[in-house]
Amino acid sequence: MQLATLDDPAVIRAADPGGMLGLIAGTGRQLLRGFELGTDTGLIPSGEGIDAVVMCGMGGSGIAGDVVRSAFGGVARVPLVVSKGYSLPGFCGRDSLVLAVSFSGNTEETVAAYAQAIARGCRVVTVCAGGELAALSEADDTPRVSIPGDVSMPRAALGYLSAATMGVLSSAEVVPPEAEAIRAVANLLDKLAAELEPERPEPENKAKALARWIGERTPLVWATEGPAEAAGLRWKTQWNENAKMAAFCSVLPELDHNEIEGLGEAARSRFAAVILRHPNEHPRMAVRVDATIDALARAGVEAQQVWARGSTPLEAVFSLIMLGDFASAYAAILRGIDPTPVPVLTNLKERLRS
Ligand code: PA5
Repeated sequence: MQLATLDDPAVIRAADPGGMLGLIAGTGRQLLRGFELGTDTGLIPSGEGIDAVVMCGMGGSGIAGDVVRSAFGGVARVPLVVSKGYSLPGFCGRDSLVLAVSFSGNTEETVAAYAQAIARGCRVVTVCAGGELAALSEADDTPRVSIPGDVSMPRAALGYLSAATMGVLSSAEVVPPEAEAIRAVANLLDKLAAELEPERPEPENKAKALARWIGERTPLVWATEGPAEAAGLRWKTQWNENAKMAAFCSVLPELDHNEIEGLGEAARSRFAAVILRHPNEHPRMAVRVDATIDALARAGVEAQQVWARGSTPLEAVFSLIMLGDFASAYAAILRGIDPTPVPVLTNLKERLRS
């Protein structure tokens, strides 16, 4: 059963005791602080001679790497590789810059990847709020960006984690973002937050409207290649963790070569497709999206297109992320679910630790 309205502030406050909506609204502020912290880390390894950047991390921390790759993969002077697991890619060596990103600092896969990077003599930086990774950084004399403790869960710290990563890469002169570009994104996000916050009523609040439109259906989040890709992944994972719902993400054009064939009669009314778009798409993308929506319609699946805001890839990725973050939190509240706790994930980690 869905809530009749998302416009009663008392109901929203009671339904969101962990304050997830407020944390999402603060992403712009986090970006500013995270970038400062990333560029302030005195001991950033020199970027000279670096042949690749490998960003390690899982879940809500690992996506910082996806964001950076989505926004800067097209302009970085070396490959930006995202590594999610225990093992580093084989090419990683002395000239690779490895960032081990873990909010808690205790994620076993990221700690294992960090140990491998140290053993191989890579240039390593850690990004974490504490935990084992912080202790190892200190013991090994590895530069560390310390994430502030005012946020209690990884996925609500994306602004800090991704901007700290960008700060490190900018200091090592691997990717371009300057403080100016980060400020522009932060300003855009503050503006967007005002359009999507709980006080903005449902008829003029895109995030509330999307949450209600998706309802109990499973979201298929389809991103056009480029900056929307990381946003697509984030929408999926936020729908999983905030709304506690299954969700899937894929990228256009690839999905036109397989997934689109899988939406037969059974898909009708079970799925809702959200297509994430951005201004720097390949010229063929417009006609491809139209054709894809027609194919969806023939399978009985409704679709909505969502456009990124801003003009740079970084603005595009974060504007799409903020809309999905708000929408997934509203989706939870609509269904009477607290967006903050992730009990299944937490139990699994406890079991693996014991
Ligand atoms: O959202 C979450 O809580 C998870 O996806 C975590 O980010 C993931 O388990 C990794 O933990 P950490 O971010 O502390 O490294």
